[in-house]
This record gives sequence, C-alpha cells and structure tokens, in this order.
Amino acid sequence: MSIQNTKYVLEKVYASEIPNRNDIAYLLALQDQQETEELFDFADEVRRKFVGDGILLRGIVEFSNYCRNTCSYCGLNKYNKALQRYRLTKDEIIGSIEDIVSDGIKTVVLQSGEEDDLSALWLKELIEEVKASFDIAVTLSVGERSFEEYRMWKKAGADRYLLKIETSDKTNYQSLHPEMDLENRLSCLRDLKRLGYQTGSGCIVGLKGQTVEALANDILFFAAEEIDMIGIGPFIPHQSTLLGSEKKGDLKMVLKVLAVTRIITKNTHLPATTATGSLGAGDGRMPALKAGANVLMPNYTPLEYKKLYEIYPGKRCVDEPAGACSVCMEAMAAVLGRNIDYSIGHSLKIRDSEWVT
Ligand code: 5AD
Ligand code: FES
Repeated sequence: MSIQNTKYVLEKVYASEIPNRNDIAYLLALQDQQETEELFDFADEVRRKFVGDGILLRGIVEFSNYCRNTCSYCGLNKYNKALQRYRLTKDEIIGSIEDIVSDGIKTVVLQSGEEDDLSALWLKELIEEVKASFDIAVTLSVGERSFEEYRMWKKAGADRYLLKIETSDKTNYQSLHPEMDLENRLSCLRDLKRLGYQTGSGCIVGLKGQTVEALANDILFFAAEEIDMIGIGPFIPHQSTLLGSEKKGDLKMVLKVLAVTRIITKNTHLPATTATGSLGAGDGRMPALKAGANVLMPNYTPLEYKKLYEIYPGKRCVDEPAGACSVCMEAMAAVLGRNIDYSIGHSLKIRDSEWVT
C-alpha cells in the first residue's frame, strides 16, 4: 500500500458505476495514518460536493422498548428480563414532537423495538394526527411488518422508513438473529421502496467475525438498492446479551466504512450516529462529520425513559433533557465551520414529483 496507490483506488472507486469489491476492501483495510486521512478528506470533499455543508437534524422519539426479537447484540432483546419496559402514550409522543418543532427541526423519527403488540391502527392515527398538526416529515422505525401495514402508514402520511439490515452477510446474520431471516428483511425493504417511502438502512461495524469483504458487500448492497439514508455505527457490547463479553467496534473502521459509503453513494444522507458518538473518550460524531456524514439525530425521548432505551450501554445524551442536544449540535457545526440546516431534508435521490405533496 502506498499513498499513490490509495489515491488511484479512491479515484477509481469514485468514478465506477459498480465499484470493485477488492478496491473497497483495500480502502477499508488501510492502516497508515496518511492514507486513511486521504480517504477521509476525499469523502469530505464528496460530501461537500453532493450534499453541501449543511448538517440536517432528525429528532428521534423512542416511543417503546418492547421487542419480540432476540438479536444477540441488542439490549432490548426479549430475553433481557432485567430491562423495565415502557411505551409512551400518544399525548407523550405529541409532547415530544412539540419540543422537536419548537427547536425548528422538521423530521421526527418514531422508533421502537419490534413490538408484536404495536397496533397498526394506533400508529396510523398517530401519523395522521402528527401530519395534521405539524409541518414535519415522519420517519418510522418499527421493524418488519406486513406490506398492508406499510401501505396503511404510507397513506396516513409517513414519509420515510428506517430498517437496518445490520449485516448483509447471510451466515453472520443468521448467527446474530437465530429466529429471523435476512430474506424477510430484504423483502420488507423492497416493499417500503415500492410504496414510495424514502428508505433508510444501515449496518453495525465490528461484529464478531466480520471481514472487510463483508463490510464491502454491505456498502455495495446500499448502493445497489439505492438506499436514501444509511446509518453506520460501531458494535457496543451490552452485558445482558449473548455478545456481552465481545470486543467493541473500532472507531477508525466505522469512519472508513462511512467514508467509502459516501464516496460510492454520493448524495445519500449519512448520519453521524449516536453509537459512533458514544464510542471512546471524545465524541466520535465529530470525526464522522469530517469523513462523509451530514446528519445528526438529537434525542427527544422524555428524560425518564431515555435510559430505558438501552440498546447498548454508555449511550450518549441519556442524561440530557430534550432540547439540550440541538443546542449542542449548533456548537458542533460551528466548530466544524459548517451550519445546521433546518430544512426538511428529504432524500436527494427522489424526483421532486414523487415527494412534494
Ligand atoms: N451496538 C451497536 N448498535 C446496536 N444496535 C443495537 N444493538 C447494538 C449494539 N449492541 C443498533 C442496531 C439497531 C439500532 C436501533 O441500534 O443497528 O438497528
Ligand atoms: Fe445530546 Fe450533545 S448531542 S447533549
């Protein structure tokens, strides 16, 4: 590996319609500091060119931590009996959305565990109420559901849907999610796209046995599926899960995956994720914003519940009241010489006619 070769591979990956998997793996395997800086700077330039200097905000409300799933890395998995479960009322959720709106943010992400008891009708009515009361985009993140339910929520006004694949490697997916099926998740993603949702996905970096080739495949998957928003974050071990004593993901590797994803997918929205921010001593979201990221997701879950949405330990901002994050994010943007962009922040991959209502 040399700096010349790295520059050559960067140009080649940037210019290819379907980049070579080995070239991606080469970039993800970079160790030399100067060469990794080259990768991050290249991604930063691509970010500036395709999505500009604005940092978009999505206010997240984690409205329930009930979950039917058994993901072996996640603290919300149904076998974690130690976790106190909660579900917010409609009024509590609307209260959080009022906070989001009063901070000038124009997207709410309604996220929960994958709940069997989540009533599709209840969520439909909530979406209708939110869309009638606020000028705000609604992103749902409630997991695998039926086509008919996705359709009902879309008709009710939902704009976007986040469904991470976590890993596109079939064998690894199966061992992490013994009771789930990657094919079903992929078919959900395709249903969502067919229904006209702006679709988000993403992966976890640093899972046991994960190779750079597997990560390269994740990136190629996001590109091939034309995913609109891609959340990339490190694995963080949670002691009440099967993977509790595994090693946590490496910040450098997260940044490399993020940077290559930016270079290949060009105009996607890439959040500097909370998990990335929770890693290490500093705030990992700052280097992420310098390696391709253009979105931040302040947390508006009411303070008394934030701690209970413990997908991994040491999660950032759980002691901050609603609103503190958006102030903090203004400061982050200022340090970077960028700005917070308070526009609605729809996907740049969709033609205007498809999403302007
Ligand atoms: N470490 C990092 N990310 C995790 N997630 C769940 N558990 C962990 C963990 N232990 C992520 C998954 C999920 C999102 C809500 O949180 O990517 O989709
Ligand atoms: Fe939450 Fe800084 S982003 S307090």
